[in-house]
Amino acid sequence: MSTAAYPAADVDLFSDEALADPYPRFKALRDLGPAVHLTRHDLWFVCRYEQVRAALGDWRTFSSARGIGLNDDFNGAWDGALIHQDPPSQTQQRKLFTERLSPRALRSVAENIDRRAEELAAALVERGDFDAVTDLAQDLPIRVIMDLIGWPQKGRDELLDMAAGWFDSGGPAGARTSAAEPKVQALMAYLSEVVAKEDLVPGGFGWNVLEAHKRGEIPVEGATGLLAGYVVAAFDTTVSVISSGVWLFARHPEQWEVLVGEPALVPAAFNEIVRMESPIQVFSRVTTRDVDLGEGVVIPAGARVMHSYGSANRDERHYTDPDHFDIRRNPLDHLGFGFGNHACAGQGLAKLEAHAVFKALAARVERIELTGEPVRALNNITRGFSSVPVRVR
Ligand code: HEM
Repeated sequence: MSTAAYPAADVDLFSDEALADPYPRFKALRDLGPAVHLTRHDLWFVCRYEQVRAALGDWRTFSSARGIGLNDDFNGAWDGALIHQDPPSQTQQRKLFTERLSPRALRSVAENIDRRAEELAAALVERGDFDAVTDLAQDLPIRVIMDLIGWPQKGRDELLDMAAGWFDSGGPAGARTSAAEPKVQALMAYLSEVVAKEDLVPGGFGWNVLEAHKRGEIPVEGATGLLAGYVVAAFDTTVSVISSGVWLFARHPEQWEVLVGEPALVPAAFNEIVRMESPIQVFSRVTTRDVDLGEGVVIPAGARVMHSYGSANRDERHYTDPDHFDIRRNPLDHLGFGFGNHACAGQGLAKLEAHAVFKALAARVERIELTGEPVRALNNITRGFSSVPVRVR
């Protein structure tokens, strides 16, 4: 930490140690000021709840149009994607995405998701020991959600790895970011092939995107970017929230007992899991003017500003005892799905999936225990696990 005119720190938030346990570093940075200049990566870091929410709600000042990743290659490569646009083009493209994901449109798929979650929970309870990532959390995204999108069977299994690579490649220049490059190339080639061959099931969510592209409403990069919105955004994030939830409940058996006794708390528990272990930890914007954040901190125009959903959700200025997992807290205002014009377009679907899984488990499982050391999937942008071995009783 330094004593420059504005708060500055040379901490590396992307080292293995920092990614494995970011929260103590986030707290130290929150205490330094409303924004801190991270000298190592030449980034401004906004990490308190109030300022993160305000930035997300002000796209005219904190623009996504120059990308939301932390390196130029990523921001250039996904130029046409929905997340890399400001209104009005973002508003137009987003409609294509959200019309199939509105609460009304999702009503018809809820039953299918519930049924699959029930079958899965019953089978896993029968087994007793399983991995909460590979056996539980990955099931719905791969089996049910890909069908809803109308995705071809070919290549589905590789998508999880490609999706994780996409997030990693949005990090600051460095070894972890470079290592993701081949996965992103493969993802782009795969998505472009799906668009070129029109390899989607007519009537599925993804078909809308293809139709709009064929009508000339969106260029090929836009179509590829929107499809990435389905297969990238819908995968790692949902897998992460389900496995983090199981991990949190295994470490807090008293909270699981509360849920089993009162299953109506499933939506509140879900909000608390997203708050505690926000699946997307950071993204960024670029300032379009000098911004005064208070306490003498002015971010200059044209600066890249990284904001942290994960840090904002643990801000003691906003939440009492923020590191405590409490499913009765029901933090409806958490920022884990973002806020403002880019707020998660798929959160309705994510909720359906996670609610279904925890409801099905709460109806059958008295206790969840870890049977081995969970393995973190270290990633520049997302937080999750590659393995959480558990036993259920
Ligand atoms: C627990 C699961 C999920 C979490 C925590 C999550 C989180 C987020 C966050 C934080 C953003 C904001 C990005 C920004 O501020 O620039 C976002 C945007 C987005 N999410 Fe999600 N997401 C989840 C699941 C999903 C699913 C299932 C889908 C697709 C079906 C999806 C599709 C999208 C899309 C398309 C955007 C971009 C919206 C826009 O730019 O207008 N997400 N998500």
